[in-house]
Amino acid sequence: MPTRPYVIDEMISAKAIAARIEDLCREIQGEFKDTDKLVVVGLLRGSFVFIADLVRELDLPIEVDFLEASSYGDGMESTREVRILKDLRGAIEGRDVLVVEDIVDTGHTLNHVTHLLDSRLPARLKSIALLDKPSRREVDFKADWTGFEIPDEFVVGYGIDFAQRNRNLPFIGKVRFTQD
Ligand code: IMP
Repeated sequence: MPTRPYVIDEMISAKAIAARIEDLCREIQGEFKDTDKLVVVGLLRGSFVFIADLVRELDLPIEVDFLEASSYGDGMESTREVRILKDLRGAIEGRDVLVVEDIVDTGHTLNHVTHLLDSRLPARLKSIALLDKPSRREVDFKADWTGFEIPDEFVVGYGIDFAQRNRNLPFIGKVRFTQD
C-alpha cells in the first residue's frame, strides 16, 4: 500500500489514447500485413488494458500470449535485475512476435525480454510501448513503436499501478503527493 497520501492529475485522456492506438495499429498492420502467424505478447501486469484495446483494433490474424517479468514491487524504483516470473505458453520459433509493454523507463525490462525472446529464433520480433520516459534510460533500448513520450513523472491508470492501485483508471494520470 502507498504510505503517503496522493492525488492523480490527468496527463493523457482516454480519448487521446484511443486515437493514438488507431494510428499505431495502422502502422503495425503495414509491418505485419503479410503474416498469418502474429503472436502478440503482453507483459503482465501493466499492459493488460493496452493489449486488450490494441488487439481489438488490429485487423490481422493473431494469437495472444503473456509473459510476466519482475517489476517495481510496491515501490517507485526499478529493481534493474529482471526475472521471468511467468513464461509464454507457446513456442515462438519461426513466428512473428509483437511484444506489448506499458512503459519503457530504465529500459532494463524490455531489453531483457526482447533478448530472451530473440534467442528463441522468432521470424520477426517487434516491440511496442504505450509510454516512454527517455530521460530515465539506463540501457540503450527503443521500442519499435511508442504511444507517447512523457517526462520523468510517476504515472498510473490504463493498466499501470502504484503499489497495485489505480490500474482501473481509464486515463493516464500522474501521481502527486499531497504531504512531504
Ligand atoms: P524499466 O525496466 O525500468 O524500463 O521499467 C519498466 C516497468 O517499470 C514498467 O513495465 C512498469 O511496470 C514500471 N514502471 C515504470 N515507470 C512507471 C510509472 O511511472 N508508474 C508505474 N510503473 C512504472
